[in-house]
Amino acid sequence: MRIPVSGATLACEVFGSGEPVVFAHGFPIPGLMWHHAAARLPPGFRGIVPDLRGHRESTVSPSLDISTFTGDLIELLDTLAPGRPAIFVGLSMGGMICMDVWRRHASRVRAMVLCNTRPTPESPEGVTRRHTVARLALEKGSAAVVDTMIPQVFSPTFETARKAWWRDQMAATSNVTIAAAALALSRREDSVPLLPTITCPTHLVAGEHDAITPPTILEDMHRRIPGSTLVQILGSGHVPPVEQPDLFSTTLNAFLQSLA
Ligand code: MLT
Repeated sequence: MRIPVSGATLACEVFGSGEPVVFAHGFPIPGLMWHHAAARLPPGFRGIVPDLRGHRESTVSPSLDISTFTGDLIELLDTLAPGRPAIFVGLSMGGMICMDVWRRHASRVRAMVLCNTRPTPESPEGVTRRHTVARLALEKGSAAVVDTMIPQVFSPTFETARKAWWRDQMAATSNVTIAAAALALSRREDSVPLLPTITCPTHLVAGEHDAITPPTILEDMHRRIPGSTLVQILGSGHVPPVEQPDLFSTTLNAFLQSLA
């Protein structure tokens, strides 16, 4: 389905019925990365899986901020589950968006699952790297950026054919979106001071071989978020719902069922 939000239309898949679970994908991998997990939610949960602004069929915007995605998710929820808080599940950039949802709309958050993400703002070297990525995307296209990312995103043992398929999904993201999202990541706010204020049930997921957001980052978040739980997905790189989908669904569903 397609859902209008301020200044854009979002493509969105919905799975099941019940308490809303909103999934926010990473950069620049589309909502498809969540389909396996969303299709296997326990009874009583409704998976809402948008392609964030600029991805796949969702409207491309030449300029983005993390707060743009946050506002879009809240408007999406206003349409699909008006007045209801939701469980927010986000990976990497999607996790940063979930933290921003907590920053701006905590009353809408029933619980969070923060996967393979980090709370810190971009370092000065990181800002320079993001500008290089944005330039590369605009000058050479999406595939040029994605091909530099793949060895970092997936673990060395991830099956070649599946890796190639996901590489193509990522490379199909508009180069304008890759540039805009890279710059949005470079400007993200510092969420470290936010972590001790997170009072909703929060589950953290790390990937054993994640080269982008190594498990130590999630361990530190776990120490800072009161009452949070942490699991490490063995045999996975940066995207456990893609590399180890069954292990990911097991931990997600156990957390959801613990909320009852
Ligand atoms: C993501 O998966 O969202 C990206 O790897 C985030 C990043 O580039 O830091």
